[in-house]
Amino acid sequence: MKTAAQIIVLDAGGQYCHLIARKVRDLGVYSEVRPSETPAADLAGAKGLIISGGPNSVYDPSSPTVDPAIFQSGSRVLGICYGHQLMAHLLGGTVQLGVKGEYGLATFDLLSNGGCASALFDGISGPQQIWMSHRDLVTAPPPGFSVLGATATCAIAAIEAPARGLYAVQFHPEVAHTTRGREVLSNFLFRICECRRDWDPRHRVPQIEDEIRQCVGDRNVFFFVSGGVDSTVACALCQRALGAARVQGVYVDTGLMREGETDSMRRMPGLSIENAEAQFLDALAGVRDPEQKRHIIGEEFVRVQERILQARHLLDGRWILGQGTIYPDTIESGGTERAAVIKTHHNRVPGIQRLIDAGRIVEPLRSYYKDEVREIGRELGLPAEILDRHPFPGPGLAIRCLCSEIEAGVQATAEGCILPVHSVGVQGDSRSYAPVLCIDALDTLEHARATELINRISGVNRVIARVRTTAPLAGMRVRVSALTPERLARLRHADAIVRRLSHASGFDRTIWQFPVVLIPLGTAAAPDSVVLRPIDSVDGMTAQSVAMPDDLLASISTELLSVPGISGVFYDLTHKPPATIEWE
Ligand code: XMP
Repeated sequence: MKTAAQIIVLDAGGQYCHLIARKVRDLGVYSEVRPSETPAADLAGAKGLIISGGPNSVYDPSSPTVDPAIFQSGSRVLGICYGHQLMAHLLGGTVQLGVKGEYGLATFDLLSNGGCASALFDGISGPQQIWMSHRDLVTAPPPGFSVLGATATCAIAAIEAPARGLYAVQFHPEVAHTTRGREVLSNFLFRICECRRDWDPRHRVPQIEDEIRQCVGDRNVFFFVSGGVDSTVACALCQRALGAARVQGVYVDTGLMREGETDSMRRMPGLSIENAEAQFLDALAGVRDPEQKRHIIGEEFVRVQERILQARHLLDGRWILGQGTIYPDTIESGGTERAAVIKTHHNRVPGIQRLIDAGRIVEPLRSYYKDEVREIGRELGLPAEILDRHPFPGPGLAIRCLCSEIEAGVQATAEGCILPVHSVGVQGDSRSYAPVLCIDALDTLEHARATELINRISGVNRVIARVRTTAPLAGMRVRVSALTPERLARLRHADAIVRRLSHASGFDRTIWQFPVVLIPLGTAAAPDSVVLRPIDSVDGMTAQSVAMPDDLLASISTELLSVPGISGVFYDLTHKPPATIEWE
């Protein structure tokens, strides 16, 4: 049975809206998100309502609002950011259109109010670090409200009318940067709304299963599983909810996967493997240009998917498409620039597009975040090797295996040498494609220096340092090379070594992703080298190259140099921007 939500978050369009609901659940209270304009009558029964932030101005006629009856409904109400402004505006206060706004950390001072503390700030005193993100300002509270606190640029940063159960804050208590934000939310839930603790994350799975059954009805579900965490967990949830017989998962082996990947998918119950290795490698034979690689891979994917859809009659009315969409994928503001770029590479099968347009789709994880998806996967008993995976790009090893149409030596400069290997970067708002600068200095793996060099030397977008090579750099050459099965096997082997050693040392758990890149730089006997690219990031939009422990670097390079065909190990020192994470 579905739990009734004690707290309902009214979505006014803010990107943190689901984060509020999630933080409330973290505090042990079941909460749901509803559109901000939901009629007050439909919200009856909730102990508390939270009006989320949003990008609009209350003066814009098209901006979200709430049913004003919620303020007399008996539910306690907390406005956050835009919610604070909306509450003030609807109840007779003044909101001033902002010009510049306030974004980022600020210090919030609680006003003493004659020593009468607000329940919202119970247990909190003194100046507080908070996170602000707003343009408009409340400049006069509604009649009957008192002001609880201010920042240097926002005189009315928190207000209340406790007898009416109304509270509002300009800052974001739900984000980690607001140091005591969790206590503010906890005070609202337990002191003000008197909520019971009724939510244990373990209730998630039965609830998701209910939702899947409701959405799917008597139809069946099929998935194209990528091997990533999200699609695998979503597929496993559907199998549990509907029984394995009603769910088909297909994993396409493109031949561009990492070592052991296809085998680990083979162990997943109810998943079939479509071997399309020959098809992909044939189509990629002789291709070197990064954009062309992506284009071809996208097209072949479309072909394979179309073939599967036809052969298994998945487009008839008895089947709907399952997808591993998670909440951040659905956020339309933050994170879209990159997502938009990625999507243009992933051509959609027309059949799949028709299913999406017709709403024949089930996305069981669409209100969950990555860390919750991992927890759910653990509850389902999925193997850690799948759940703790770093992100891996759809086009796979193909974009980490660099090719050259020419043969050329390295070109010495005052700072190091320029390799005739081009890689992709992102400078300003556009992509760059430029040669790599190599500094011959294992001892000075200095990231700041890399950024400085790129800013100073025109025409390069990436800096790598030599870790170890079997010949002096001046004696190494870039050779004509392509995406051959032999080079892909070499890269796969190198990648497996790096993954094994960085996992054994625990280093992989401290970083976001660890691409291993094969470049066609080497000696006549061993024509390739490996570039290590450990990076840290929150969402892949920006990233920092990170240093690794010396002993790990030493053991990784020793093993890599023992791989036939590899004559050098290098370390990518470049942040994103100016370089992208992948080399392509
Ligand atoms: P870049 O190279 O643009 O990568 O800095 C940012 C993040 O996106 C991943 N990536 C992809 N993921 N399909 C994916 O699912 C793709 O085509 C793709 N290309 C890049 C990359 O691994 C990094 O985490």
